[in-house]
Amino acid sequence: MNDTPQPHYQLVHGQILHFLKDPGAADAADSYQYFPDGALWIEDGHIADVGLWADLLARIPPAVLGRAEVFDYSGKLVLPGLVDTHCHYPQSAIIASFGRQLLDWLNDYTFPVESGFSDPQVAQTTADYFVERLLAHGTTTASVFATVHPESVDAFMASAERHRLRMLCGKVMMDRHAPANLLDTVRAAERDSLALIERWHGKGRLRYSITPRFAPTSSIDQLVLAGELYASRPDLHVQSHLAENPDEIAWVGELFPHCRDYLDVYAQYGLLGPRTIYGHCIHLAPVEIAEMARHGAAAAFCPTSNLFLGSGFFNHHAALNAGIQVGLATDVGGGTSFSLIRTLGDAYKVSQLHRSPLPPLQAWYLATLGGAQALHLDAFIGNFRRGKEADFVVLESRATPELAFRLDRRNSLEDQLFAMMILGDERCVAATHVMGRPAFRQNPPLSGRLHNAGEPSTIPVTPIPSTCR
Ligand code: GUN
Ligand code: ZN
Repeated sequence: MNDTPQPHYQLVHGQILHFLKDPGAADAADSYQYFPDGALWIEDGHIADVGLWADLLARIPPAVLGRAEVFDYSGKLVLPGLVDTHCHYPQSAIIASFGRQLLDWLNDYTFPVESGFSDPQVAQTTADYFVERLLAHGTTTASVFATVHPESVDAFMASAERHRLRMLCGKVMMDRHAPANLLDTVRAAERDSLALIERWHGKGRLRYSITPRFAPTSSIDQLVLAGELYASRPDLHVQSHLAENPDEIAWVGELFPHCRDYLDVYAQYGLLGPRTIYGHCIHLAPVEIAEMARHGAAAAFCPTSNLFLGSGFFNHHAALNAGIQVGLATDVGGGTSFSLIRTLGDAYKVSQLHRSPLPPLQAWYLATLGGAQALHLDAFIGNFRRGKEADFVVLESRATPELAFRLDRRNSLEDQLFAMMILGDERCVAATHVMGRPAFRQNPPLSGRLHNAGEPSTIPVTPIPSTCR
């Protein structure tokens, strides 16, 4: 008798779309694969095959097929899990707080709410809520700021680990220009960051991101420490903020008169390079844009936050032309939604102000593979290449009457993608899967096939006819 453990097989039926590279402004045809009647074959939570339903089924031996768990998402889009490249879980409770620009908003809302995270219970409740909301919005990976308190990282990592998510998180380093109960010191930041790296970095799918909040709230000694930590291992990440707001930039100029510009602060202290990502990057001089690209640092495009805080309009087109890797980000709670679908809508409007409208294929690349590349996690996630981790989101493009009415009239792939990013939101998220397993299901489904849609079933050995429209 053969007692070799059998892999867990899963078969997903749907309109499969994933990106192989940036489609660019011209939506290059070789940048993506789209199988309108498609299938994903998953073994032990990893992608083993992708293709047309009929072709893929013909490649799998019937006996193996017979053991698979089957998810029928026919008629729905199946994309890689969405990637949020910059967000703050402790700010979940201050999202949508009225008025003022960045520095006042930090003082009036952000610092007070973050003070509460010395309490592990507050941290755990908020982390669990945040992770649950990410999944309900189709996001399976994020680069997440905690607070200055190490317990806040423990809470987030524990929640992410429980859901088997691939996540980045780090303890905020901040030793000046914030309320006393939110400050650490160089030594405390070193001790706590090292202990957190030891505890969480590389545990399951988790990785640690060194997190100096932004230049004004760290002393030079603390920035030096952050740079040393980043250089100490080949796989640590760095996240921070850059050039978000004119008053912030003027303040950085006063605090760091020996630096050429804002970017140069991070350059001088060894905080630019692969696996570094900076939120906002709106008001950069040409030399900063060129230097960012030269160092391989990525930019997180946070349009809902930038509009909400009146910060300005990130120039995605210019960043791409300069060779900067860009990811999409909600920046909750400066941003106004957990939804990367809504965020794409605002990204499009901001791109229009620069007269470089963001094309739909490039937009969805940005929310999936682009984000994974910006975070240097594309070896694991971002598309459906064989061996990648099987995180995916199932989207109902006709989730609302407005979308259905619109798509009854024109319904190419580009139409579906564009209408969803302008009219759609989390109501389009029918289900979210992590490593193949369902982690969120819209209940009740807003539309689509009501009988067993998304329910695992035993195998149809003969192909199910497609219901694609
Ligand atoms: N700059 C420094 N801290 C923050 C923050 O929490 N949110 C935003 N949007 N910008 C910042
Ligand atoms: Zn931020």
